[in-house]
Amino acid sequence: MKCQMQASKLFNVLAVSIGLTFVYSTSAFAVDADAALSLARQNGCLKCHAVDKHKDGPAYRDIAAKYKDKDHAETVKKLINHITSGEKAKFPDGHEEEHKIIKVKDVAQQTNLIEWVLSLPGGKWPETD
Ligand code: HEC
Repeated sequence: MKCQMQASKLFNVLAVSIGLTFVYSTSAFAVDADAALSLARQNGCLKCHAVDKHKDGPAYRDIAAKYKDKDHAETVKKLINHITSGEKAKFPDGHEEEHKIIKVKDVAQQTNLIEWVLSLPGGKWPETD
């Protein structure tokens, strides 16, 4: 009897730790930085963006700073929409044009690119350079 109870307790402990492992492994996105950078390069994103300085568009690390206190899942959705819908983008000289639409349709690759941008450290918002 006693032995049986211990077995079921052990089972509960195992179930909880497996559950936790699952939660932790799905919440932290494993960014493939090389894939993200080469996707950005192939799509001409780096003509207007750099990791650490403002070109026509904000530095990627500053975009990470802009959204760091926002709901992460919502931000990923919003930014995927930003690079797939051709919404209006404001340029430094004040004119507006449709933002570049990424050529790749694969949501996993789009997500990896956005997660990479959001993972970049050292940015500031509002931007300083
Ligand atoms: C022709 C120049 C240009 C190109 C090419 C370009 N962008 Fe942008 N991007 C901008 C500008 C300008 C903004 C600022 C838009 C604004 O604040 O209204 C911007 C903003 C962004 C943002 C931030 C949006 C936000 O809500 O803060 C992301 C993310 C982004 N671009 C990603 C990309 C990716 C990925 C690519 C390649 C597929 C790309 N951009 C290509 C000019 C460009």
